Amino acid sequence: MSKAAILDGKAVAARVRAEVRVRAAGFTAAHGRAPGLAVVKVGSDPASAVYVRNKRLACDEAGIESFAFDLPDHIARAALVAQVKALNDAPEVDGILVQLPLPNGLDANEIMDLVDPAKDVDGFHPYNTGLLAQKRPRLRPCTPFGVIRLAQEYGIGLTGLRATVVGASNIVGRPMALELMLAGATVTVCHTRTRDLQSEVERAELVVAAVGKPGMVRGAWIRPGAAVFDVGINRTEAGRLVGDVEYAVAAERAAWITPVPGGIGPMTIAMLLSNTVDAAERRAHG
Ligand code: GUN
Repeated sequence: MSKAAILDGKAVAARVRAEVRVRAAGFTAAHGRAPGLAVVKVGSDPASAVYVRNKRLACDEAGIESFAFDLPDHIARAALVAQVKALNDAPEVDGILVQLPLPNGLDANEIMDLVDPAKDVDGFHPYNTGLLAQKRPRLRPCTPFGVIRLAQEYGIGLTGLRATVVGASNIVGRPMALELMLAGATVTVCHTRTRDLQSEVERAELVVAAVGKPGMVRGAWIRPGAAVFDVGINRTEAGRLVGDVEYAVAAERAAWITPVPGGIGPMTIAMLLSNTVDAAERRAHG
């Protein structure tokens, strides 16, 4: 029997999306056009195809216009650069999302650096990362922002909490640490060189797992009463989706835990929509 309360990301994401729908409708009424999000997919990675499709559908449902750009695997670097620059200049485009990873041969950092920071709804541009690091967040990376929003919705206080982030990627781990610090937590970040992952997790009152390896965080490591946020989305050989945390055992010990699927995944998309309306409003009003 699971003891933990399950954090229902799907339900909270639906609330965020309802808020976005109201704001998008207000924007459309005021400006004669809907907020616009360009979703750029390069190549044919099947997981990316699913994520991009879901993002486009979510836009439609929220009253955000999505502009689809499906570019070939072997696109020349210069052509992708030109595409991003054209989107930077397009007045009807408020947000630009280039789905990662990019195919081999293309430098994601170079492309991220090129996106106009005012349209950077992924929050991946160094300017937006820098603002978050300096405690003045503007456009915030969607997954970490989604974790914070989910915690808030369930009344999980973060101030003073001992938090451990497992994973130090630019997309999740690093901005997650910045978000948690912004929220007043005391943060430890674990990565491939961490000497004793178990003891770092055992101390934590809040754990965020973002490594992309099933079972990387053992259930028995979870401190009784902890809050566990599992960002991992891994497909097992049997075709099931599982996170990075050994869920059944962790759920016996934690006070709160996110399921996979239905936890952080839906929150990521909801925060992308929210960022898009934020970007649209800021571009319109300065
Ligand atoms: N690939 C995995 N997560 C993300 C994300 O949040 N945004 C983009 N653009 N690509 C991703």
